[in-house]
Amino acid sequence: PAAASLTAPNARGEEGKPFVEEMRAVAMRLHTKDQAKEGEKEPQAPPVARWEPSVDGYLRFLVDSKLVFETLETIVDRAAVPWYAEFRNTGLERSEQLKKDLEWFKEQGHTIPEPSAPGTTYASYLEELAEKDSQAFICHFYNVYFAHTAGGRMIGKKVSENILNKKELEFYKWEGNLSQLLQNVRNKLNEVASSWTREEKDHCLDETEKSFSYSGDLLRHIFT
Ligand code: HEM
Repeated sequence: PAAASLTAPNARGEEGKPFVEEMRAVAMRLHTKDQAKEGEKEPQAPPVARWEPSVDGYLRFLVDSKLVFETLETIVDRAAVPWYAEFRNTGLERSEQLKKDLEWFKEQGHTIPEPSAPGTTYASYLEELAEKDSQAFICHFYNVYFAHTAGGRMIGKKVSENILNKKELEFYKWEGNLSQLLQNVRNKLNEVASSWTREEKDHCLDETEKSFSYSGDLLRHIFT
């Protein structure tokens, strides 16, 4: 009977909970124990507190990050999938800010490198997903923007104190109230995902590990 499907246990038994809470729970489990309280993974890299960043490594990270944010922002502006348009102008965009920061480094006499493999590989993967796997694409969209406002900011503070004489980069400044901007995006994610099947939701959640892996490759510029 049709009614049965309404009460059937679903794959993860979490129906009813806003989808972003599921996305967050999966992401938090993929942190290492030293990165976040809810982390479950054993650390494989040194903890942020022991990073000894160099300006060159950090610049490679910023350049690759700029490419990734530009790619995400171009994809939602283009909106090849109509509902991507929901994620335009969220206030979380970072490519303009990174452009300004790189100009500042240039004025300081640094040479800005070209994007490197971690950035270009991730950007082309995002382009590919955007066209053929919108649920997986949105997983990356969520993780990249939200990670940057959490762990990303901690990293920025540490680098700034250690090697930038406490200079505060635009990358870590948002116009308006950041928590409100994040909440607006969470609401949109919940809204969009409310029309997904349980399989589509699980597929989105299953992409989280790849998101950590690609972002981890960018972060590695800073501590190696
Ligand atoms: C949240 C640390 C890397 C995705 C957080 C939080 C911390 C943190 C402290 C906040 C936990 C809380 O709300 O109590 C770090 C550190 C990292 C790192 C130190 C690397 C050195 C990553 C990566 C990703 C990621 C690579 C995914 C690409 C997220 C997400 C949240 C989060 C989605 C939830 C944000 C929210 O709910 O607003 N992280 N993280 N993090 N992180 Fe990370």
